[in-house]
Amino acid sequence: MPINILIAGPPGAGKGTQCERIVKEFGVVHISTGDLLRQEKADKTPLGLSAAEYMSKGALVPDELVIAMVKARFEKPDVKAKGWLLDGFPRSRPQADAMVQQGIIPDLFILLAVPDEALVVRICGRRTDPVTGIIYHDTFKPCTDPEILARLETRADDTKEALEKRLVGYHQHIAAIRDCYKAMTVEVDGNRTPDAVAAEVLGAIRKKQKGSSSCCCNIRPFHLAFLAFFFAPVFANLLKA
Ligand code: AP5
Repeated sequence: MPINILIAGPPGAGKGTQCERIVKEFGVVHISTGDLLRQEKADKTPLGLSAAEYMSKGALVPDELVIAMVKARFEKPDVKAKGWLLDGFPRSRPQADAMVQQGIIPDLFILLAVPDEALVVRICGRRTDPVTGIIYHDTFKPCTDPEILARLETRADDTKEALEKRLVGYHQHIAAIRDCYKAMTVEVDGNRTPDAVAAEVLGAIRKKQKGSSSCCCNIRPFHLAFLAFFFAPVFANLLKA
């Protein structure tokens, strides 16, 4: 049975870096809302042009735009067949609620914890290969191939100023998101080498997968707990009426 994973953490926490490794081992479909929005921008679609204004300032793109985009991506058949790895969504309580309404419930919520001070260096040194999508860093993961080096790109929002705003947004919303996924959260110290972080992240997914495969039905206990948390007020009102 495919596994479904959410990964979250502040900007530069290493979500994209760990996602590369998770996809390699588990073959899940990586859905990064940041990547989807950057692709929309590159394609000059109305969504991309509108999103670009928010992104370059380090602000969140309005919920309704992102929710519609994610919903459309989840309608593609690969997601059901291979399982998914959602990166960068939900980023607000309305986005988390929209996921529940769509029946998009993760098996595991991985939260990468990195102190703000460590993130400036990571963000300002990040370079991405537009051909392979591989993420490099001037210091922590330098690119040694001259051909690739020549085509590396820097993201428009990878500035100290935009990072400050992105961090404010992150800290404003993360508590509400954590609340939604308490039953399935694994918090990982992301302030270590990528290999050390990956060992813990991949280990947690393997453990979850092993536990799930020994469960004989598709509905897992924490799915029920999760649904009960959301629908309890509805039933309480019905009983009162
Ligand atoms: P998005 O693309 O999701 O960016 P982000 O969440 O800010 O995260 P990043 O991609 O910057 O960092 P990362 O954690 O993936 O780190 P990485 O692995 O690259 O979103 C961008 C924008 O899109 C948002 O600001 C918003 O405007 C919009 N948006 C997206 N989703 C949205 C939503 N749901 N709602 C509304 N708006 C939305 O690593 C960073 C660097 O550090 C790399 O160079 C890497 O090599 C290095 N590194 C990684 N791990 C380590 C390590 N352990 N030690 C040392 N260096 C490391």
